[in-house]
Amino acid sequence: MKNQQQNMSLPLTIFTLTLLSFTLAANSQACTEAFFKLAQKKNISDCKRLRTLGAEFAWNLHGNFSGNNSTVVDILFGATLQTQQGWIGWGVNPGKRPEMVGTRAIVAVKRSDGTWSVDTYNITKEIRNGCNLLPSKIGIVVSKSVEEEADNMHTMYVRLRLPSEEYNVTRLNHVWQVGYGIEGGHPHRHPTTLRNVDSTEVIDLTDSNGRSTGQYRSYLRSIHGVINIIGWGTLLPIGIIIARYFRVFPFKCEPLWFNLHIGCQLTGFLVGTTGWAIGLSLGHSSRYYTFHDHRTYAILIFVFSTIQMLAFRLKPKMTDDYRKYWNMYHHFLGYGLFAIIIINIFKGIRILEGGVEWKWGYIGNLAFLGAIAFGLEVYTWIRFFMLKQKQNQNKNQNQTEQIQEEQPPKLNIIAK
Ligand code: HEM
Ligand code: HEM
Ligand SMILES: *[C@@H]1O[C@H](CO)[C@@H](O)[C@H](O)[C@H]1NC(C)=O
Ligand SMILES: *[C@@H]1O[C@H](CO)[C@@H](O)[C@H](O)[C@H]1NC(C)=O
Ligand SMILES: *[C@@H]1O[C@H](CO)[C@@H](O)[C@H](O)[C@H]1NC(C)=O
Ligand SMILES: *[C@@H]1O[C@H](CO)[C@@H](O)[C@H](O)[C@H]1NC(C)=O
Ligand SMILES: *[C@@H]1O[C@H](CO)[C@@H](O)[C@H](O)[C@H]1NC(C)=O
Ligand SMILES: *[C@@H]1O[C@H](CO)[C@@H](O)[C@H](O)[C@H]1NC(C)=O
Repeated sequence: MKNQQQNMSLPLTIFTLTLLSFTLAANSQACTEAFFKLAQKKNISDCKRLRTLGAEFAWNLHGNFSGNNSTVVDILFGATLQTQQGWIGWGVNPGKRPEMVGTRAIVAVKRSDGTWSVDTYNITKEIRNGCNLLPSKIGIVVSKSVEEEADNMHTMYVRLRLPSEEYNVTRLNHVWQVGYGIEGGHPHRHPTTLRNVDSTEVIDLTDSNGRSTGQYRSYLRSIHGVINIIGWGTLLPIGIIIARYFRVFPFKCEPLWFNLHIGCQLTGFLVGTTGWAIGLSLGHSSRYYTFHDHRTYAILIFVFSTIQMLAFRLKPKMTDDYRKYWNMYHHFLGYGLFAIIIINIFKGIRILEGGVEWKWGYIGNLAFLGAIAFGLEVYTWIRFFMLKQKQNQNKNQNQTEQIQEEQPPKLNIIAK
């Protein structure tokens, strides 16, 4: 039993490690060549790719102005904007967290005639609640300009003087954003997909790699995804495979199958429920957007699997008359649950927008389990026909015996 479980956990471990390494590697990526060239023209050599919105960021620290206790920083910011009009924005937040409210932002606006302008904005709570965003002085900007495009990317160049009492360049809260609406030449509200709300971090400008923290929520989302894929997407199907092929036919492993089945379903359920709870708490803390389908399926999954788990205590005895029907229902709900789980995992992967590794990672996982199930299914049918042939031969030779002993397996599976 131990051996079998180890065999099954091997692909799981590989899968988890791969996903986690993708997630962590995404932290500090070097920027694109085109952007790096632009930065070099500005005498900037520190450069990194930001996590979302196709944004890139280059900076240069000039130390402090003597006696003024402030740090001068040159910044080149770039983001993709594929629409006719729109805006790209970047800003620093002197508050406690890297968030939109409280940010001193520099926004470059692209009008529909293709001209650009750049202005500064003090983003307050009222803006989030829907007030118009109007330009205002933010006190830290020395100079600002819209720069040339690099490979489909629009850029702006800013020189800031950051007072040391308000901004600590070793842990600077900064945010970036891209929006598609403008109103009277000023930015209008931006979308709130995950890409647009994950565009914040705490950066250390004294580190040439731009080490960053404060992506707690986005890590939690990845953890939510991995845990759910392991719990619902891997352990439960393994349990189903065990129940289907090792209970009666083609392999009869009593009571091993039952222990393994229960073991997989129980750990799958507990792990999955943990992931589910993380999802709920993530959904709860993001009031401004909800993923309705994903949420609905998630609730169905939890309800159905809880009902399936009740089978532990509430299943009828082997001898009860209606055990047959109970079995049919338990199997039917089990396969239905499996289908919803697959759908919801793909939905989750779509809303996460975490890159193709997720999709292919899960498809690989499914293919692996599918190949095992397919092999066992083929084997089942071969065994089935061989047995039937043998039975027929036996019948011809010796009409009375043997028939009771080896019934066709399909009947067995439903009736047992
Ligand atoms: C023009 C009017 C704007 C409106 C109506 C608006 C509205 C919103 C809303 C409703 C959210 C979601 C908040 C949440 O989930 O709690 C948000 C998030 C965000 N916005 Fe804006 N926004 C505007 C302009 C800007 C600008 C100019 C920038 C940046 C330069 C920006 C950067 C961000 C960032 C980084 C987030 C995610 C972090 C956070 O939730 O604080 N926004 N915005
Ligand atoms: C079948 C397994 C899964 C279940 C039961 C589940 C459950 C949930 C629940 C209950 C929520 C909260 C929805 C809301 O209130 O808006 C949620 C959100 C989410 N889930 Fe899943 N999930 C599953 C799989 C996945 C997977 C595989 C991924 C990604 C790879 C994923 C990514 C997300 C994301 C990105 C959110 C939004 C988080 C946020 O609002 O910040 N989910 N999930
Ligand atoms: C970059 O540095 C060189 C040499 O130090 C200088 O001549 C040039 O003006 C600088 N360019 C900018 C944009 O600061
Ligand atoms: C700023 O510069 C002054 C003089 O050059 C120096 O004494 C001071 O320690 C510097 N402050 C910081 C925070 O680096
Ligand atoms: C700069 O900061 C140091 C210590 O933080 C302080 O002693 C000094 O007076 C400050 N100088 C100015 C010009 O603010
Ligand atoms: C110190 O800061 C003030 C305004 O904050 C500025 O006018 C002055 O030029 C600065 N001094 C130096 C040496 O940069
Ligand atoms: C920006 O707005 C906040 C909140 O209303 C205010 O406390 C702060 O002084 C403003 N900043 C500037 C530079 O005007
Ligand atoms: C800035 O943050 C670093 C690390 O948290 C800390 O060691 C340093 O004292 C801070 N500097 C100022 C001026 O607050």
